[in-house]
Amino acid sequence: MSEKVVLAYSGGLDTSVAIRWIKEKYGMEVITLTADVGGDRDLGATQQKALDVGAIKALVVDAKKTFIEHFVFPVLQADAVYQGAYPLATALSRPLIAKLMTEAARSEGASAIAHGCTGKGNDQVRFDVAAAALAPHLKVVAPAREWGMTREETIAYAQKYGIPVPVTSASPYSIDENLWGRSVECGVLEDPWVEPPEDAFEWTRSPQDAPDQPHYVEIGFEKGIPTSLDGRRMDGVDLVREINGLAGKHGVGRIDHIEDRLVGIKSREVYEAPAAVVLLAAHKALEAMTLSRDQLRFKQMVAAEYADLVYNGLWFSSMHQDLAAYVQSSQRYVTGQVRLKLHKGSCTVVARRSPYSLYRHELATYEEGDLFDQSASPGFIQIWGLSVRVQAQAQPEESMADEGP
Ligand code: ARG
Repeated sequence: MSEKVVLAYSGGLDTSVAIRWIKEKYGMEVITLTADVGGDRDLGATQQKALDVGAIKALVVDAKKTFIEHFVFPVLQADAVYQGAYPLATALSRPLIAKLMTEAARSEGASAIAHGCTGKGNDQVRFDVAAAALAPHLKVVAPAREWGMTREETIAYAQKYGIPVPVTSASPYSIDENLWGRSVECGVLEDPWVEPPEDAFEWTRSPQDAPDQPHYVEIGFEKGIPTSLDGRRMDGVDLVREINGLAGKHGVGRIDHIEDRLVGIKSREVYEAPAAVVLLAAHKALEAMTLSRDQLRFKQMVAAEYADLVYNGLWFSSMHQDLAAYVQSSQRYVTGQVRLKLHKGSCTVVARRSPYSLYRHELATYEEGDLFDQSASPGFIQIWGLSVRVQAQAQPEESMADEGP
């Protein structure tokens, strides 16, 4: 009996060719696994295609709820955004898909897993490292890393074996999408001096064509998790989906970024992530009101570390567990509502409230009812500035007397 391999299958050209190629090159039987993480595809057709191309079994797993609850929301709570720009949609789906593949390998008695990633990107690292952490006994087969075919050669290979070449491979872009965002690369986008053409976008309207009237949304959070939209309690998957639609319509969520891949390449990436942009802005606004200055400052450092480790494929690591524990703890009072205005590509927080707010009107006000004791300030400043006064006296700096340091 030949060995079995579980292949992560998107239904696209590369992974379809991979089914045939693995059979031919390795003599393995291919079981495909297609994870539904909220991309807009006909999964029944994808499943049938896998079988038509030669898979012995085609698994489809609805992973939307797990994706949102165990991958997306913890990262929202962390405010993790790679290099200050990329909300990590693709990066987050990989460890989940890898986990589903190792589970399928176990239940199907497969000795290997496979993916269609090339040797130049981050996704290969994410799949391989996740598999190494979860199921070190499994081999990893990565055909596109080995076969060295150009796009044209891949199409020729497909035609030779009667593998349907999808219309989408005529699309000039390479696209990956899930509920947290849509990643677009290749084609004219490879020239960083070219503005992304309108056809690169699918989820967002061009801000100039967005409605002239702003749209307000109110998002409710409980312990850092978004649980309601405009006062309606909603399940995470539905909430993210609905905000993607609303914000996309108002042109919110386009991101154009020169990004540093783990393998050392700078690449031009375009993203559409309307819900991520809105929810991150709302969540940060609520934290600004419910966390202390020290918590906020420290949490920003955690967010940067968190984003890097997710991007770099270290989801299943002890470092992640430790950071996640801090993030969870930090969220215990991040409960309340945030109002935002969506208008022609912008998303602006306009109001926030929380039962645990640290904002005190009687301290902040310049009007009637001020409780802040201004007479205590000179003494505070006296001590706060003490070391500066001592140093200025003992070590006079010429330059400070002129324009400053
Ligand atoms: N650069 C992003 C990342 O590494 C997205 C890659 C997505 N792939 C694609 N085919 N567009 O997470």
